[in-house]
Amino acid sequence: MSDVAITFELNGRTTPLRIQPQLRLIDVLRDSLGLTGTKEGCSEGECGACTVLVDGRTVNSCLFPAIEADGCKVTTVEGLVGPGGCLSTVQEAFLEGGGVQCGFCTPGMIMTAAEFLEEHADPTEAEIREALTGNLCRCTGYVQIVDSIQRAAHRHRSDNRQQGAET
Ligand code: FES
Ligand code: FES
Repeated sequence: MSDVAITFELNGRTTPLRIQPQLRLIDVLRDSLGLTGTKEGCSEGECGACTVLVDGRTVNSCLFPAIEADGCKVTTVEGLVGPGGCLSTVQEAFLEGGGVQCGFCTPGMIMTAAEFLEEHADPTEAEIREALTGNLCRCTGYVQIVDSIQRAAHRHRSDNRQQGAET
């Protein structure tokens, strides 16, 4: 099969590529582009370890044809890191809240949390648990992950209040 040309915005950078048309997005991210933060667990859309954002929405990159990312904005866990390597609020909250143990599920959890918190400024525990139903963790028992997301939400609200007070 001959290669096809695609271009997407990856973590804020225009990224032109030639790919085999059968490749999945996770293949391109990890193998072609070296972004190994995104993990592959089940390869069947069940575990959420491979979660990335495409145009701001979570997708399982193990099932998402790379060719469909043409013209889209793709964000991986590497793309959440700010200038100078500063971790995002969600990433920091996972570290502080003990939401990371072996770390395998963590990138997917963080991407799911990042999308969720965009639309839920003050989520309940039940809402967080509902949002995480597509992401499996074998280590934490989820309590610390839920706590980490609550911490991130709390910090976002504080930051927003502070910004509001300064303007
Ligand atoms: Fe994609 Fe499990 S590796 S959902
Ligand atoms: Fe190990 Fe979640 S921290 S699978």
